[in-house]
Amino acid sequence: MNNLISLKNISKSFSNNKKINVLKRINYSFTKGKIYSLVGPSGSGKSTLLNVLSLIDKPTTGSLLINKTPVNFNENTKNDKIRSSKIGIIYQQNNLLPDFTALENVYLAGLALTNDKKNSIERAKEIIQTMGLSSREAHFPSELSGGEMQRIAMARALINKPEIILADEPTGSLDHTTAKEVFNVLYKLKNKNRLIIYATHNRFFANMADCKLEMIDGNIKAINARIK
Ligand SMILES: Nc1ncnc2c1ncn2[C@@H]1O[C@H](COP(=O)(O)OP(=O)(O)O)[C@@H](O)[C@H]1O
Ligand SMILES: [Mg+2]
Repeated sequence: MNNLISLKNISKSFSNNKKINVLKRINYSFTKGKIYSLVGPSGSGKSTLLNVLSLIDKPTTGSLLINKTPVNFNENTKNDKIRSSKIGIIYQQNNLLPDFTALENVYLAGLALTNDKKNSIERAKEIIQTMGLSSREAHFPSELSGGEMQRIAMARALINKPEIILADEPTGSLDHTTAKEVFNVLYKLKNKNRLIIYATHNRFFANMADCKLEMIDGNIKAINARIK
């Protein structure tokens, strides 16, 4: 069907002093064209799950398939390529490079896929325009508001037109009005070939999704599946 990412028996444990099992044999498939929200108390494993989905963290057991192809978590170089071509990641703190302008922050991410600097700059300008921030291209992160920085971070995540967008509490550090603007931009990115998953603590934003998922005891429970 339209499953873009499938998780099969995915577990993730951390063992420092004491072993903790954060994800416990999760079986779930994410459908393309849909937006999912991920809720759950602090420490319930939302970021851990998003880090596995973004191929940054290796699950302890289980398999993850993208477009039916299993990901080999030991192939870092290959997975870096998959990530830069297919996955856009947005964090709570926007992580922009402070010594680079808004435009540079965005187009440099485009160079991960192609060495064509001119083309990357053109694409960066286009996407910054869709974020309504053309007049801010030459500004440094310190000269932007929180909402503007987050929109530039989104532009950076989107420059390679990812099929998958993962956002970990993308508006966690913004006021409600600014957060709404950021979510409006995120929702405009929905299309039939794309999967969007975001973690949030905010019930209002969580309820906007096609499917609201809750992390409960290391597993995913679908709460309001509007997906047939
Ligand atoms: N790298 C790590 N090493 C050890 N424990 C970790 C690590 N990352 C996360 N954890 C633990 O895993 C649990 C889930 O964390 P996290 O996924 O960040 O939850 P959430 O994003 O829902 O707040 C927490 O108990 C956290 O302390
Ligand atoms: Mg988290």
